[in-house]
Amino acid sequence: NIVHVILSGGVGSRLWPLSRKSNPKQYLNLFKEGSLFGMTVLRNKVLCDQVIVVGNRENYQLSREVLDSQGIIYTDIVEATPRNTAAAIAFAALAAAADDILVVTPSDHVIVGEEAYKKAIQAGIEKAREGYIVTFGIQPTRPETGYGYIEFENDRVLSFREKPNQDTAEDFIERGNFLWNSGMFCFRADTLLHELEQFEPKVYATAFAAWQHQKDGRLDESLSKKIPSISIDYAVMERSKKIRVVATQFEWSDLGSFEALYDYLRSTGYSVDENGNMVIGSDMYTAFVGLKDTIVVCTDDALLFVQKEKSQDVKKIYNTLEKHQ
Ligand code: GDD
Ligand code: MG
Repeated sequence: NIVHVILSGGVGSRLWPLSRKSNPKQYLNLFKEGSLFGMTVLRNKVLCDQVIVVGNRENYQLSREVLDSQGIIYTDIVEATPRNTAAAIAFAALAAAADDILVVTPSDHVIVGEEAYKKAIQAGIEKAREGYIVTFGIQPTRPETGYGYIEFENDRVLSFREKPNQDTAEDFIERGNFLWNSGMFCFRADTLLHELEQFEPKVYATAFAAWQHQKDGRLDESLSKKIPSISIDYAVMERSKKIRVVATQFEWSDLGSFEALYDYLRSTGYSVDENGNMVIGSDMYTAFVGLKDTIVVCTDDALLFVQKEKSQDVKKIYNTLEKHQ
C-alpha cells in the first residue's frame, strides 16, 4: 500500500497571534480553499491508499474534523509529548506494514501545481520501491538558513546539509548544484526503520519501546520522554547512503513566518500599500504614516506589529507568553 503520513506536530509559533497552541497554523482557514491541513489531505488523496496522521493531544480533534468532512478513514497517532520528526516518522513506519511505501509530508506547506506535484510523488514512489529514501528538492531562491540543502548530481545525493549557517548557505547558492529540502520524503517503512536503527539506535529502540505500549495509537508519556528529540534530517538524511532526490517543478512555500506569508499573499493579489505595509486579519481601514514594510496582524485578543524582515523574531514573543499562546 501507499500511505500518506501527515506530520502535524508543530504550533507555527512564528505566526503568532494567528497561530495558537490550540489552533496551529495548519488548521487556520487562511485561504479560500480552506486550511493548509485540508489542502495537504486533498492533494495526496488521489496518490495514496491510506492516511496516517501523527499529531498530538492538543490538535488531533482538529485533524479529525478535516478528515471526517472529507470522508477519509485514517489511522491516528497521538503523541504524548513532541519528540521531533525522527520519532514521529518512526511511529508511522511502525504502524505501517514493512513493505508499505510512506509518502511523508508536513501539513503546513503551500504547494501550487497539482500535475507537477503528482509527477514528483509518482517518481518518488518508484525510487522508494527500489529501496531508496527519496527527498523532494526545490530550486532555491535565496540563502535561507532555515532549510536543509541537498547537493545533487542527477538523482544522486552527494550530501545533505541541514540548516547551514549564512556563509555556508551563500556558498551553496553560488555553487549551484544544491536544492532545498522540501521536508517531504518517500520510502518503504522497513528501509527507514533500518537506517534509523543503524544511525540512531537509541531513538530507534526508545521509539520502538514506546510504540509497543501504545493504546489505540495513543502514546505513553513517560516512555515517550525517553526518546531523544532529533529531526529526521539530522538523524537519517545527513548520514544515509540510500538518499535520492526528485527535483520538483511545483511552486512551494513553507509559510514559516509572516515574511513568507506576506510574500505569498502579495503574489495572490492581496492588498499592500505603496510602502509595502500589510494588514492581516482585519477589514478595518488602516493607515500607515512613516512606516515601511510593516505587517499588522489582528486577532480578537491580540495585535502584532512586525517589521517584515524581523519576522523570524516573532517566535521569541510566543515563547515569553503564557496567557495568549
Ligand atoms: N507529529 C509531530 N511530532 N510532528 C512534528 C514534530 C513532532 O514532534 N516536530 C515537527 N513536526 C512536524 C511539523 O509540524 C512540520 O510539519 C514538520 O514536522 C517539519 O518540522 P519543522 O519543525 O517545521 O521542521 P523545519 O521547518 O525546521 O525543517 C524541515 O523542513 C524544511 C522545509 O520546510 C527540514 O526537513 C528541512 O530540511 C526542510 O528544508
Ligand atoms: Mg517547518
